[in-house]
Amino acid sequence: MKSAKQFLEDHRLRASDIDMQGLVDIFINEMETGLGGKGGSLRMIPTYIEAENDFLTDVPVLAIDAGGTNFRTALISFDQKGTLVCGEIKNFRMPGLDREVSSREFFSIMADYVRPLAEKSERIGFCFSYPTEILPNRDGRLIQFCKEVQAPEVVGQLIGMNLLESLGTPGKHLVLLNDTVATLLAGKSASPGKQFDSFIGYILGTGTNTCYIERNRNIIKNRNLDSGKSQIINIESGNFAKAPRTDLDLLLDNSTMDPGNYSFEKMFSGGYFGGLCLTVLKAAGLEGVLSAGSAALLNNLSGLTSNDASDFARNDGSVDNPLKTLSSERIDSESARVIIDTLIDRAAKLVASNIAAVVLKTGRGKSPSKPVLITIDGTTFYKMFRLRERFEKYLGEFLSDGRARYVEFTEVQQSSLIGAALAALI
Ligand code: BGC
Repeated sequence: MKSAKQFLEDHRLRASDIDMQGLVDIFINEMETGLGGKGGSLRMIPTYIEAENDFLTDVPVLAIDAGGTNFRTALISFDQKGTLVCGEIKNFRMPGLDREVSSREFFSIMADYVRPLAEKSERIGFCFSYPTEILPNRDGRLIQFCKEVQAPEVVGQLIGMNLLESLGTPGKHLVLLNDTVATLLAGKSASPGKQFDSFIGYILGTGTNTCYIERNRNIIKNRNLDSGKSQIINIESGNFAKAPRTDLDLLLDNSTMDPGNYSFEKMFSGGYFGGLCLTVLKAAGLEGVLSAGSAALLNNLSGLTSNDASDFARNDGSVDNPLKTLSSERIDSESARVIIDTLIDRAAKLVASNIAAVVLKTGRGKSPSKPVLITIDGTTFYKMFRLRERFEKYLGEFLSDGRARYVEFTEVQQSSLIGAALAALI
């Protein structure tokens, strides 16, 4: 029998197989390529939202959050002291997840969801978390779907305009933004008393992505910007294509709806991590790391959620965990646990490399009295077994090791909805 340790080493699946400095350099390079409009895998999408803003008070906004399995709505306003007033949050199912929908259906399902609140507000902040090119009027054109949404006719369409037309209110003020951007805005507005040198928004949930503030003069691909100002850039970091992928990452990628796209996201985000663990465990079964009985059981499993994988790494899984059915041989569950735990450790180092690159690209945070504020949202980041502490260790070691950058983390509950409301009140 081959050991789990040997298997992980053979496939270069360990965090120690990643050269963090090398990866950070490549990531920064790819950011610059994207800003220059020279292609590359990082889209570096201008948002036309500056970080320094004044917000209207006592004005109700319909805030929408579409980006994972849920489609959520709420009526939000801020009183004159800036205190958030949030009505009941309603949860619906994201259209296109259970079956393919036409463009018409897609927008009319969404219009039906939001209609009751849209009638109470002239402003809509729409947090739409799929790769979308934002236009100067702050509507957005969908570049492609990810996270397994099936609505191919919507690609290339203007999201805000179509929603407003389905609602029958084409004149309403609508701002479309990415969830990372909403998260950055929510984090910034929730930390008014302290001095920060810059701001980053990061999401690790079903998908993953990062945004930060860039000087307009560095956004070389867009000549029509005021070069004295800056704005938030949506990196679409989940599409980073230059991370060190293994044969098993490729195998998982080939089983998804869009092979070759969003390959970074598929290495660690919640929408794919369970599937990746199952792919790796099946390979371990084939290579004799697990007993024949366990290998056969794994082959019969059609899927594994990221939650199940995390739960198994934490405590060998609760009674209903699909991996609980692994051969009763203790050694098999221990090998499976080690494999999943190693993949979580690798995930933590990949996330740390992503954030480290963005912190360095800001050029900010050089003084402990003015750190960079990183607002993080997403259940995978907070719930995956020991991901967060390992991430903080990798990032902390990297940023202190001769680079001396200072960062602070914050979490804002409902940051996508709050940030969407803020964007519509600028
Ligand atoms: C999307 C991003 C989004 C991220 C987090 C990715 O799959 O492409 O736009 O910000 O998920 O929700």
